[in-house]
Amino acid sequence: MKAIRIHEFGGPDVLRLDELERPAPAPDEILVKLYASGINPVDWVVRNGGNDFLRPLLKLPMTLGWDAAGIVEETGSDVTDFKKGDAVYGIPNFPGDGSYAEYCVAKASQFARKPESIGFNEAAGVPLAGLTAWTALFGHGRLQPGQRVLIQGASGGVGSFAVQFAKAKGAYVIGVASTQNIDYLRAIGADEAIDYKTQPFDELVSDVDVVFDAAPHRDNNERLRSVTVLKEGGILVSVNIDFPFSEAVTQALAKKNAKGELVANQPRQEWLAEIARLIDAGNVKVFISKVFPLEQVADAHRESETWHVRGKLVLEIRKEGEPK
Ligand SMILES: NC(=O)c1ccc[n+]([C@@H]2O[C@H](COP(=O)([O-])OP(=O)(O)OC[C@H]3O[C@@H](n4cnc5c(N)ncnc54)[C@H](OP(=O)(O)O)[C@@H]3O)[C@@H](O)[C@H]2O)c1
Repeated sequence: MKAIRIHEFGGPDVLRLDELERPAPAPDEILVKLYASGINPVDWVVRNGGNDFLRPLLKLPMTLGWDAAGIVEETGSDVTDFKKGDAVYGIPNFPGDGSYAEYCVAKASQFARKPESIGFNEAAGVPLAGLTAWTALFGHGRLQPGQRVLIQGASGGVGSFAVQFAKAKGAYVIGVASTQNIDYLRAIGADEAIDYKTQPFDELVSDVDVVFDAAPHRDNNERLRSVTVLKEGGILVSVNIDFPFSEAVTQALAKKNAKGELVANQPRQEWLAEIARLIDAGNVKVFISKVFPLEQVADAHRESETWHVRGKLVLEIRKEGEPK
């Protein structure tokens, strides 16, 4: 089978198309015939050698990609919840061998049934960004209907899902993005859209229950501005776990009896199933800004590295409708 692997850490040039044996599933695993893989910033962070958290866990050579959509080809002897032919999506093996390949094996618990109403390319854009948004908003942010949430990075992969999940929950959603994404934020359901290029959000917004920092900048001054818009007892949630809260941020939170949470996404099967239900009910759309063939993975990485992707980028591994 074809797989995109790295044998050394470095720039997009280290991505290599290799021919490998198709793997076999262990008793608790499924073998998935992959149709598409989502692209996430962590893919090129790993390609570059990782951060302090990831570096000790990375083993070369490795297949990148942790966002999969495909069809179950084979099940391990202990797997009871999937059968051959099921269409599935999930986060395989992070940060081990992943989804830039024609097949992958992974624990069945890392997958759920793919939403029926969307294709494989769209489905592959959902698991990692969607579960990150879900973990942050509901796992750590404890967002409730009627509450006010401010989402930074609202037009990106994580942010686009966060806006829609928060709306589906019945929250009042304020999204922050750059000028060219303001109409997009309204289109995906934000009640208010703030342009960070021209509008200081901390002068426009107050009384926020949850601030969700899903923007890429790792900047504690920005976090201090976020604390100013929080209500007493509010929650600041950041998914940039590699960048701890400064002492000043911690003190500002304490003064407001507010909490600060650093969030790693939890790949829970039941949350993935819930997200699939929201998509099939028409409450959440998947916005794919570009699809690349597997061989053009280096271009996909270069685009992701701009930090200005709207929605998701996807690698197409097989065309939909290709014989099973
Ligand atoms: N902890 C976890 O488990 C986890 C999982 C996934 C992602 N993450 C982190 O979450 C963040 C977002 O990831 P993603 O996949 O959503 O990335 P993404 O798809 O590349 O989106 C990034 C978004 O950030 C916005 N942005 C860029 N520069 C900005 C700036 N200076 N100020 C404010 N917004 C800015 C962009 O909007 P404009 O183009 O409008 O500027 C873009 O839509 C990243 O920092 C990533 O490392 C963490």
